[in-house]
Amino acid sequence: MQDHKLIVISNREPYIHQRRGEQIEVIRPASGLVTALEPILRQFGGLWIAHASGSADFETANERGEIQVPPSHPTYTLRRVALSREEELGYYYGFANEGLWPLCHLAHTRPIFRLSDWEHYQAVNQRFAWALPPESSGKNSLILIQDYHFALLPRFLKRRFNGATQRPRIGLFWHIPWPNPETFGICPWNQELLHGMLGSDVIGFHTQYHCNNFLETCNRYLEARIDWEKFSVTMDQHETLIRAFPIGIDPSPVRTLNQQEIHQLKARYGIQAEIVAVGVDRLDYTKGLVERVEAIERLLEKYPHYRGRLSLVQMGSPSRTHIPAYRALSDQLHQAVERVNTRFGSESYQPIVFLPEHHEWGEIQYFYQMGDLCLVTSLHDGMNLVAKEYVWCQAAERGALILSKFTGASRELTEALIINPYSIEELADSIATAIELPVAERTRRMLAMKEKIQSQNAFHWATHQIRALLTGTTTPSTLAQAS
Ligand code: F6P
Repeated sequence: MQDHKLIVISNREPYIHQRRGEQIEVIRPASGLVTALEPILRQFGGLWIAHASGSADFETANERGEIQVPPSHPTYTLRRVALSREEELGYYYGFANEGLWPLCHLAHTRPIFRLSDWEHYQAVNQRFAWALPPESSGKNSLILIQDYHFALLPRFLKRRFNGATQRPRIGLFWHIPWPNPETFGICPWNQELLHGMLGSDVIGFHTQYHCNNFLETCNRYLEARIDWEKFSVTMDQHETLIRAFPIGIDPSPVRTLNQQEIHQLKARYGIQAEIVAVGVDRLDYTKGLVERVEAIERLLEKYPHYRGRLSLVQMGSPSRTHIPAYRALSDQLHQAVERVNTRFGSESYQPIVFLPEHHEWGEIQYFYQMGDLCLVTSLHDGMNLVAKEYVWCQAAERGALILSKFTGASRELTEALIINPYSIEELADSIATAIELPVAERTRRMLAMKEKIQSQNAFHWATHQIRALLTGTTTPSTLAQAS
């Protein structure tokens, strides 16, 4: 990396400056992408370009929209790009999150494609292509584009740097699942999106399955050469490698709470139950949150001896609240929680302790430690880093992970209790199994998962991608482990 400059482009910024009256607050967003990428930038330095989403973002930045971060000990530059309200509505809420998000997640929410959203999406992608400083045009720049907000950006960047004698290497990482060709064909602009993405030198997904879907999609909709041996697509005489890079977390040690501190944390939130299940999610319809609450209800119905003894503590970070499907989910969830709490709760006991607000990592890690088990019930998820964070933070002899088979994480964390979140019965039973797991068994499972999380961490994820970008190859272990 010494000879290269790392440039990351994502919609979500790693630090949001928000004005609250006289004060300016720094917020770390709930984003798996930020969780994984931030340690890389902290370690290697570089430039991160992202949408300015905080009300005090420009007050705290210089005239180029730049600020050195992390605020406590700066090591890299964050460059903020301003979007108008219309652009945000069309590009972010509209095309990215009402169109591509439900298109790529099989969660039975119908994607909406509006021409005006598509026009904003194109314009914002174009804008980010010009947000890169001119000096990033050289071969020493490594540009890592993040996610479905920027499918067109690789092609735009390639065009922008066309005149350069040796252009930078461009990688695109798609953090969400890639659907099968039929599903992707629903999008009226499917060819334009694929063409845009193929401006990259390497495209990464979390699992080999998503790589296969992507190749099949290109095969179906493009006049391109598909190399099934090399796993590449060649179009307009440019070859793009398609690779699986399963994302990980920063495996830095966390401070372990003692028993007394755990009791104090429980007391602070009025949690009386002796057994705590935790859930930590953005309030998103892909996360299987209503199913989770229904499973707690079924558990208490079917196994009455857990009444009064088990609570689910559900942290829910509000997300994309401008979109009707998200507001509907929030209403549905609140109603489900109320129903279960009314049915099985008492003055001193709530089966579901619902905390629908943003929480910072400093607090989340302690909630994980409070959790005798953790519920990850996504209906569909690219990876799901909550599963990895929980295993990493919780003591081996205390933890148990219940993990949806529709997450990328379930391919790696095979020692979890793997469930189908659409089966409320199975989910309820697996919670009972997790509670009753003998200590030796839960320790064995947790230790095996901790080992994987330690080795397949965020740094490996980034290193493998960077190596693929620089050399055009991936190590056999990356491929084997991802398949
Ligand atoms: O991991 C997928 C993703 O959409 C990221 O791109 C994003 O930062 C995160 O989920 C949270 O979503 P948002 O940035 O829309 O709040």
